[in-house]
Amino acid sequence: MKNKNLVSITDFTKEEYLRILELAAEFEENPRQDILNGHVISTLFFEPSTRTRLSFESAINGLGGRVIGFSDSGATSASKGETLHDTIKMVSNYADLIVMRHPLEGSAKLASEVSSVPIVNAGDGANQHPTQTLLDMYSIQKTQGNLENLKIFMVGDLKYGRTVHSLLMAMSEFNTTFYFFSPNELKMPDTYKIHLDNKGLDYFEGKELGEILTEADIIYMTRVQQERFTDPIEYERVKNAYVLRRSMLEGTRERMKVLHPLPRVNEIHPDVDESPHAYYFEQARNGVFVRMAIISAILGLK
Ligand code: CP
Repeated sequence: MKNKNLVSITDFTKEEYLRILELAAEFEENPRQDILNGHVISTLFFEPSTRTRLSFESAINGLGGRVIGFSDSGATSASKGETLHDTIKMVSNYADLIVMRHPLEGSAKLASEVSSVPIVNAGDGANQHPTQTLLDMYSIQKTQGNLENLKIFMVGDLKYGRTVHSLLMAMSEFNTTFYFFSPNELKMPDTYKIHLDNKGLDYFEGKELGEILTEADIIYMTRVQQERFTDPIEYERVKNAYVLRRSMLEGTRERMKVLHPLPRVNEIHPDVDESPHAYYFEQARNGVFVRMAIISAILGLK
């Protein structure tokens, strides 16, 4: 993985996913290692973030590295009209690796084509969020014991939700059966369903969450992505299409976990938080160890 970009989850192989998860477990066991001493990592966030930026920065600081970057592009020369091309050219002079989030699909790929240092995509529009996927896989492996032959329910905004797109691509390497629940307007795009067809994997599409939840190993809830809608009336119509409540989890498998990349809005009622099935806060914590693993693997330090 040394010097590789992580723009799309498919930039890594199945063996590389498993190596990242192994490294993450090592970092969880022993998070205080000084291996980034002398390294500078840049975090460029052109779009808001809490977990991704802070867990990357926590990972870098924990390993003894230095962070430069911004969380508000309005305070940078982008606000004077500097192009992404030029910003990345400049920052790659100042850092050993760049972590970037940007609202435009394809922006991370463009950055990887002009940067002299590796680019890690921290989310590009509705396209991909590969580091989230690796932490989701780590969370799935930790709670289910393995990644093979699982039933994963994806619920909510499957059209604009970049986390479900990346997760589907990665978990399609592990004989997963997918169940999609979304409003008509927010269905999983055909390109991902064609990918599953080509892999010979089963998937089911539905509208009503009900008794079928008893089949699930993982329920992956997602937020309806208000910022991707051009029509606010359409957002209002679908924003509360799915609200998971604790009572709906009765009869589900003992080991079943509810995941969510967060932030949540209304789609998981707070009464789920105390359920043994709730795992979304631990999932976010796992992000620190997984991001330690990603950075150290790409920099060739592990
Ligand atoms: N999961 C995730 O990407 O969260 P943030 O938007 O807070 O980074």
